[in-house]
Amino acid sequence: DQHSQRTDRTGQVEVIAHRGASAYAPENTLPAVDLGADMRADYVEIDVQMTSDGELVVMHDTTLGRTTDVEERYPDRAPWNVGDFTLEEIQTLDAGSWFGAEFTGTGVPTLQEVLDTLRGRAGLLLEVKSPHLYPGIAEAIVADLDGEGWLRAGARSGRLVVQSFDWEFMEHFNTLAPQVPAGLLGGPPSEAQMAELSAWADQINPSHTRVTPAFVETVHRYGMETWPYTVNNAERMRQLIDLGVDGIITNFPDVLIDVIEEG
Ligand code: G3P
Ligand code: CA
Repeated sequence: DQHSQRTDRTGQVEVIAHRGASAYAPENTLPAVDLGADMRADYVEIDVQMTSDGELVVMHDTTLGRTTDVEERYPDRAPWNVGDFTLEEIQTLDAGSWFGAEFTGTGVPTLQEVLDTLRGRAGLLLEVKSPHLYPGIAEAIVADLDGEGWLRAGARSGRLVVQSFDWEFMEHFNTLAPQVPAGLLGGPPSEAQMAELSAWADQINPSHTRVTPAFVETVHRYGMETWPYTVNNAERMRQLIDLGVDGIITNFPDVLIDVIEEG
């Protein structure tokens, strides 16, 4: 395909496709995940939440209105919380047509479907969205990952990082799956906090607007990495690479790959 002639990027900044290649396909859907892998992103980022019947689905907002036709299909179910709908109900929704007519009929994927799509093609950056709303979500995620072989060292077909804005949740997740690199979104924390967090956390992933030379130096001094979000223009990508970040989360993985390859 058109992306297969790319050079080896081993040792360079990691390319993370945000909500899939979400500049080109509806965020957090299989076409976006597939395109991110096709563009040769190192990782695809998704947001995971739980349905009322305990199933794991891929959705950014805690309500379904912005990216699906839920308000038309279930007019009396406001405010359309993800956690108030069953998987079967969510699977009736159209999560593509808001983005473009050519995506009409694209559904909300399950975590399982994303794992199947990525297998052997790209790593997974799994964000657990608002875990305080979903008791048991850590255990459910670990069960899915384990069932698909993503937790068995050496056997898993892709690399994996789990991250959240909820740092207490991440500490809990880390006790369940200590072999999975743990990322902390937001902040960044103070240097004193970073010293403590580095006992179990592997990444500090703030907004790119918060990245300074001192921050990058401190993260690295404590043996962690940083993958800032969400960077969509080439100039800013170049600046962050010069600052020494370890990965960049972007809606345009193709643009980031071009920046890396132009050196
Ligand atoms: O992966 C980082 C980024 O996704 C965090 O922000 O709101 O896009 O989930 P958000
Ligand atoms: Ca996210």
